[in-house]
Amino acid sequence: DIGNALASEASPGVSREALDRLDERVARAHERIERGRRDDEFGYAALNLPETTDPDEITETVAPVNDAAYVLVVGIGGSALGAATIAEALGDSRILTLDNVDPDHVSEVLSLLPLSETAVTVVSRSGTTAETLANFLVVREAFTEAGVDWTERVVTVTGDSGPLRELADRHDLPALAVPDGVPGRFSALSSVGLAPAAIRGHDIGAILDGGKRAADCSPSLFETPAYAYGAVAYALDMRGAAINAMMPYAESLESFAEWFAQLWSESLGKDGLGQLPTRALGATDQHSQLQRYRAGPRNTLVTLVRPRERPDLRVPETDHDDLAYLSDTGLGELLDAEFDATEASLAEAGRPSVRIELDRVDEAGIGELLYTMEAACVLAGELYGIETFTQPAVEWGKRAARGLIGEGNDESESVAEKTRLVV
Ligand code: PA5
Repeated sequence: DIGNALASEASPGVSREALDRLDERVARAHERIERGRRDDEFGYAALNLPETTDPDEITETVAPVNDAAYVLVVGIGGSALGAATIAEALGDSRILTLDNVDPDHVSEVLSLLPLSETAVTVVSRSGTTAETLANFLVVREAFTEAGVDWTERVVTVTGDSGPLRELADRHDLPALAVPDGVPGRFSALSSVGLAPAAIRGHDIGAILDGGKRAADCSPSLFETPAYAYGAVAYALDMRGAAINAMMPYAESLESFAEWFAQLWSESLGKDGLGQLPTRALGATDQHSQLQRYRAGPRNTLVTLVRPRERPDLRVPETDHDDLAYLSDTGLGELLDAEFDATEASLAEAGRPSVRIELDRVDEAGIGELLYTMEAACVLAGELYGIETFTQPAVEWGKRAARGLIGEGNDESESVAEKTRLVV
């Protein structure tokens, strides 16, 4: 629902006429996207994943570890966030992620996990990412110290070459390939995002079916939710909404907001363009960030997301008169009221928002949502005219870190030469 993003007396928003004009550009962008999909071009190929990912192949490859009670995902960025988002959406708290290389955190996770009952998916498209490889070496040693044969517990997900592929070959580990033409942040609906859920016995075919529901895009923003979102976010950015606050009203979608923030910033933050995605959670952030969304600078689009259906939890009746209005309502009902109140509050103050609703937060729902936002991002990238599927700034930082640690390279030299003014 993009109604709250339209210009009105209260809101500068986007006028309906401007959206009609933009729709002509959407139609041209759609042709470009469809050509990329047909030719399996780098990046565009990701939009074919619901069709091209073989759930049986993933399930069969992870079979040697599917007795695991816990799964530890070792990866970072696009190689971790899709799996984390899916795990959280499915309510599976036994899939944990090691992305950061914070020593305290890594030690704590490893000390809590029963390693003999834990499977590890180590995921790196390039096979060269320092955080992932370092964490993996630490994890491997922890297994050995615990007397568990790590080669029996690890599945790799990587490209055709690189250090991780060599390691998988050397130890004959179960190995899944990162599909060709799929950048990390667009890989949630491939082996990258699905392997941990498959180990835990979730129906990954249903996740892909959800993706399929969103994959049939028609060339108009008025007919395709993904394009409506991508086009409106772009149009609002062009009118000053440089911030996009992603605010799901479901704890099970909190990681989705993090996944979205990575997708949106790494794909669209280029050539001096791109919205800054921020993460919020309803109703919690109504008690903090909403103040700024409604009354701070006019530079924010708020994206409100919720499931239409969720299991509710009844608030017990009470004999306190002041609390009577809560009696016999549900927490979910209250959360929905909070959602509606936030949306109305923004509209009343002339601040744009978009409402995204999914049927339920389940396998199909999360598959459909992930796909929709990926397609929205690709469309927005076309409208900005930027290279959506590259991440040169991220790669610079990755090389510099490796250089500082010992690899030695131009980027790390420029870190050493940085002017400092320490106070
Ligand atoms: O989206 C991306 O391309 C990045 O966020 C990568 O996923 C991240 O840097 C990890 O890279 P790799 O999978 O090569 O280890």
